[in-house]
Order: sequence, then structure tokens, then C-alpha cells
Amino acid sequence: MKKTVRALLNKRILKASEGEASRYTGGDCLDCDYVIVTENGKVSKIYDVYKSGNLKKFRIIGDFVLVKEEDVIDLESYSGETFVAINGKGEIVGVVSIKEIISFMNEYIKNLRNELDMVKTDLEAFMACSDDLACITDGSGSKVRISSSCEKIYGVKPESLIGKNVKDLEKNGMYFPSATRMVIEEKKPVTITQKTKTGRKLLVMATPVFDENGNIKRVVSISKDITDEEKLKAELNHTKELLQKYERELVALRAANTARSQIIYRSKAMEKLMETVNKIAMVESTVLIYGETGVGKEVLAKYIHSVSDRSEGPFVKINCGAIPETLLEAELFGYEKGAFTGARSEGKPGLFEVADGGTMLLDEISELPMSLQVKLLRVLQEKEFIRVGGIKTIKVDVRIIAASNKDLKELVKEGKFRQDLYYRLNVVPITIPPLRERTEDIPILAHHFLNKYNEKYGRSKQLTNEVIEAFLRYSWPGNVRELEHVIERLVVISEDNLITKKELPSELLNGESTYNAEGVYVAEIMPLKKASALVEYQLIKRAMEIGGSTYKAAEMLGVDQSTIIRKLKKYEALLDDGDMM
Ligand SMILES: Nc1ncnc2c1ncn2[C@@H]1O[C@H](COP(=O)(O)OP(=O)(O)OP(=O)(O)O)[C@@H](O)[C@H]1O
Ligand SMILES: [Mg+2]
Repeated sequence: MKKTVRALLNKRILKASEGEASRYTGGDCLDCDYVIVTENGKVSKIYDVYKSGNLKKFRIIGDFVLVKEEDVIDLESYSGETFVAINGKGEIVGVVSIKEIISFMNEYIKNLRNELDMVKTDLEAFMACSDDLACITDGSGSKVRISSSCEKIYGVKPESLIGKNVKDLEKNGMYFPSATRMVIEEKKPVTITQKTKTGRKLLVMATPVFDENGNIKRVVSISKDITDEEKLKAELNHTKELLQKYERELVALRAANTARSQIIYRSKAMEKLMETVNKIAMVESTVLIYGETGVGKEVLAKYIHSVSDRSEGPFVKINCGAIPETLLEAELFGYEKGAFTGARSEGKPGLFEVADGGTMLLDEISELPMSLQVKLLRVLQEKEFIRVGGIKTIKVDVRIIAASNKDLKELVKEGKFRQDLYYRLNVVPITIPPLRERTEDIPILAHHFLNKYNEKYGRSKQLTNEVIEAFLRYSWPGNVRELEHVIERLVVISEDNLITKKELPSELLNGESTYNAEGVYVAEIMPLKKASALVEYQLIKRAMEIGGSTYKAAEMLGVDQSTIIRKLKKYEALLDDGDMM
């Protein structure tokens, strides 16, 4: 440390001649610390005035050096000499002796100590103020300072770690790995996650502090306890899984509610069929339900589910013919994240997962593409599958009910359906007869639907016998669904409470269905274009009524579903404009 003479200067001096100085007593020198004796304008001697008890005493300082006020003294190489300072005019202005140096140093040390105390207090406050663990080691990794949160994190008092080396603590298993050890080895900051003996997980950031020679003199580390954050993350994941499960259960619950539907019948044929159904419902076997459109394949499947041991589980239905092949696979088996463009980023469980513990109705099974037939076979045989884009095998416990209005055996012969799958499905085949083959069911079904729609629309309509008779004569190509639609329409549009024959649609009166009828009855002459448009429109509407969907209507009319949608739109627009009539 260097200081100017001026900064250390003691100006309490008395200048005197030799003669004067020899006569001085303590009383003459109360206000001075040095007597400077000059002879012929030159300093010849210096007396150091000091106190001994109550007395002021003098002591000759032999050697002295004349310096200028602005000269600099290097305190590190100071060796006890006395400086007499002169100003620019050559006048003596003061003295710097060992006394000044010592008092300066004392003051300096006092200030340093104060500052150090302050820094220490600040550092301790800083280290104690957070839950994070702060630790300082020396260059060899021995702990110099460690914050009080150490007790909570490592389970030991901070004092017990002071002086211990991180390498030993790491070896003893107090924590692993040691970030400080890594900093010392790599000579650069590191950030790691660390496990402690107490079972906590820490995020540790450790930084080296170098001396001027580039050696590490300190390593400072801050450790953040992330055990709870990890737990939170795990909890979040668990919650997400639960959410998915509830989502599935909700779908299942919705389905189960609708599964309570009753089967209405009186015919011998249905009675026999129901006997078999009640038996097989109780066992786990796969069921294959055949029958024309609208005979009640789906209601029967729901019934089987609702009386089986799986009734508390989900009932899930999918129409294999209504969904394009690629979507069908994802729908049935689910997909992993990123399985295909447009896929939900977190992936999605398939219906087989949704149906776990319950029953799955595969409607229109004949439409299941070959590639998916293999996958379905595996579900039936091994009760497992893999999601689209996935690798994990998923185990499920699902009872399969398949429905078809096409003869699967024929399709097998034509090579359109896998034989092995056919045999797997065909364990218990059940064929629901068309309504025209079990006319005893017509009156009871008619009354069932009448009650249903009276209630729905707040009416109290009654069917006359003649109406029932017409029903009995009719061929019901759309089966029970068609009967239901006819009754709903009658309840809504009939004027009187008593529904009579005259309110019946013409095909019912003729005892024939337009669906089956070969000809078209023409009542008046009209432009050919308008006539064919009308016929087309009526045909589509009728097919929609019977089939219940554009998909079914398309099948009945032997066209694409898109054609049905396009034509319906066209005619409805024409109707709106009044151009059709
Ligand atoms: N025995 C029955 N008792 C009561 N309602 C019935 C009965 N059979 C069919 N239904 C009713 O008829 C309608 C058609 O039945 P369902 O959907 O089960 O037919 P489906 O055979 O699956 O027809 P599709 O082959 O067109 O899918 C439904 O509204 C259903 O409630
Ligand atoms: Mg169906």
C-alpha cells in the first residue's frame, strides 16, 4: 500500500535552535509531538516528544530523511525511518515517523475489521435468507462455510461439515455426485442434479473463484431442493392420467345409460332368440348378431351388455363402415403422440382402451378392412394390441359383439373377410328375424313407440285397429326402425287424437313398400325433368326414413353417401326456393 507523505503527516511540530531546544521542558511542548532543531537553516536534530506518566519527555531521533510533501511512502517496504517533510517553499511542515505509520495502520486495520464484520454479517444473512443451500469450499474442496438449511437438506448441523472435504462426503454417500468436486476437476461452472442420503433431490449450481494465478481458491455452490417439484410433476402426470381415465369413464357412463334399452317382443321367434341371448349374455363369449337393417341388432347388443357381469363397465359402439380405414384404426386402437400429421400431440386412447372392462359393439363388421381384421384377431385371441405409431403392448379386457347385415360366410368365400376372424367371431351367431317374419311383434312395438312419442310430444294419440291391420300387412323393409319413424310421424302430424288409416303414408295403405315396389305411380303429367327430380327426392327421403342415416340410404339406393348428401342439399335448396313444386 502506498501513501503520500502529506496524507500521513504530523504537523504538531515546534521549530527551535539548539540553544532553545536544550532549555525546553515538558511544559513548553504541550501542543507538539516533535521538536525540530535547525542550525543555519538546516535540520540538525529531531526530538521526539513523548509522554511517560504525566511527564512529557524528549528523545533524540538520530536518523531522518528529508522528503517533499507530495512524495510517496510504500508502507509495505517501510523499515522504521523518520521523514521530515518540506513544502514547495522549502519550509518544514511536519514529520512522519513510526508513530504516524503505526497509528495510520491501526486505523486502517480497524476500518478493515469493521468492513469485514459487515461483509460477514451480510454473507451470513444472505446464506440464511433462503431455503436454498449455499456452500463455499476452498480450492481443495474443504467446506469453509455452509448455510443453515444444510440441516433440513442433509440432516446434519452445518458446523459438523466445516473443514470436511466434498470428496469424502461424496464417498460416504451423504450426496452424489458432488458438484464442487466436478468444478475442481473441470475448472468451470457446473449444474447438476444431486441425490442426498436423506432422499432429497437437489439442483446444484457450482462456480469456481480463481486467484490471480488461475488457481481455484473458492468454489461457491447453491443447491435448490427440487424434491417437491419432482413430486408435483409426478402428481401432475398422475392427474393427467386420471383425467384420461375419467374421460373414458364418462364416455362409458354415457353409453351405459343408453344401454338400458328394453327389447320389446311377443313373437315365438323372438322369445326363443331371447332365451339363447339370456344364456350367452352371462358368459364371456363373442357374439355375432345378424339381421337386416333396423331389426334391433344394436339394442340387442346393449341388452346383452346390460344383463352381463360387465354391465357396470363401458359399452362402446363403433360403425366399421362409417369411418375411413386410416381413421378407423386410430379410432379403434388409439395412437401415440406424433403418429401422423394432425394427431393430438399427447396421443389418444383408442376405443378398445375406452371399452376396457366392458363391451364393444363392432357394427357393420363386414366393412372392417383386411389390415384391421388382423389387429382385431389379435385382440380377440391375445386380448392385446399396439397403438398406431406405438411400440407398447396394451392389454385389454373387452367383450366383443359384432353385428352385420351381410353374410360373413359369403364374404369369406369371396376372399373379402378373413376366415380365422370369421371363426373367432362366429362362436355364438344370432340372427334377428326381419319384422315381416314376426308380425306378432308389430302391435306391441307399435304401442310401445306410441307411448314413447305421446310422452315426448305431450300428446295422447291412439291407433285404430285399421291402422294396426295395415301395419300387419306391410312388409317393413326398414324393420323396427321404420315402424318407429312411421309412428313418430303419425303422432306429430295427425289432426285427431284417433289416428286413422287415412293418415297413413300411401305405401302402407298399399301394403307394399316403395323400397320393394318395382314401379312408380304417376298421377299427372309434368315435365320429365321435374318428375325425375321428384322421384329422386322422394326416394332419398324414404331411404333416409328407413335407413336412418345417409350412409344407410346410400347403400339402399346403390350410390355413394356423398351423392346422397349432395342431392339432398340440392333438393332442399330447390324446395326453399319453391322451384321443386
Ligand atoms: N325389439 C325392440 N324393442 C324396442 N325397440 C327396438 C327393438 N328392435 C329395434 N328397436 C328400435 O329400432 C331402432 C333400430 O334398432 P337398431 O339400431 O338396434 O337396429 P340395427 O339392427 O342395429 O340396424 P342397422 O343395421 O341399420 O344398424 C332403434 O331405435 C331401436 O330402439
Ligand atoms: Mg345398428
